[in-house]
Amino acid sequence: MRIICVEDYHQMSKKAANIVASQLILKPNSVLGLATGATPLGMYKQLVKTYKAGHIDFEEVTTFNLDEYYGLNKENEQSYYYYMYDNFFQYINIDMKKVNIPNGMARDIHKESLAYERKIRSCGGVDLQVLGIGRNGHIGFNEPDIKFEALTHMVRLDEQTIQDNSRFFDSIEDVPTKAISMGIKTIMHAKKILLLANGKEKAEAIYGAIYGKITPELPASVLQLHPDVVFVMDQDAASKLDLEKLKEEYL
Ligand code: PGA
Repeated sequence: MRIICVEDYHQMSKKAANIVASQLILKPNSVLGLATGATPLGMYKQLVKTYKAGHIDFEEVTTFNLDEYYGLNKENEQSYYYYMYDNFFQYINIDMKKVNIPNGMARDIHKESLAYERKIRSCGGVDLQVLGIGRNGHIGFNEPDIKFEALTHMVRLDEQTIQDNSRFFDSIEDVPTKAISMGIKTIMHAKKILLLANGKEKAEAIYGAIYGKITPELPASVLQLHPDVVFVMDQDAASKLDLEKLKEEYL
């Protein structure tokens, strides 16, 4: 595990974008696992800048998003499909046929989930998976007490997640209560993982993810078992960590 602590959100976003850019420079046909939410927005902006400056190319890239709300279609402004297009895909030269996001409108979620897993495998697996982290330690929509062995499946959102995500909706009643999410096992199969966190409200979850017991009660703690994971965070998210100790242990 590698821990990178930077001053603020802007630095976090730049560092994360540089890591993704390096991946694409080394392997132009990379399979990227992508995340939504407030945290990676700055990273997407930076990647667009790097693309416009001619340093990276998305032509051969394939993407798989972590999750999608159940019951929202692509045109819905709250859907993660919309988010990805609006914040990222419309600005880069990605082939939209190589973009994969779970279908929140699928009639048969089980079938959709299996097909998603198969597609990830048929593309050779995810090379680099980007993650945010919930205040409750969730990754993707894998809420506390998830089964570590789960692959892509339908999940019920935690009360805290519904509360946290209500800031993006008109009212809390509008927040979907279910989603389709890659499971912990899907995430753990990625060759590399990049987790981003900023803000004091993430400090507790970050502490647990790095130092805590490995437990489904804090899903991100499972990342301690992954052979190639980097955490990039701002000082607020790192505020509960002993950075001197971390230097000795991980860097
Ligand atoms: P946020 O969400 O980036 O909006 O804080 C992160 C997450 O829930 O994984």
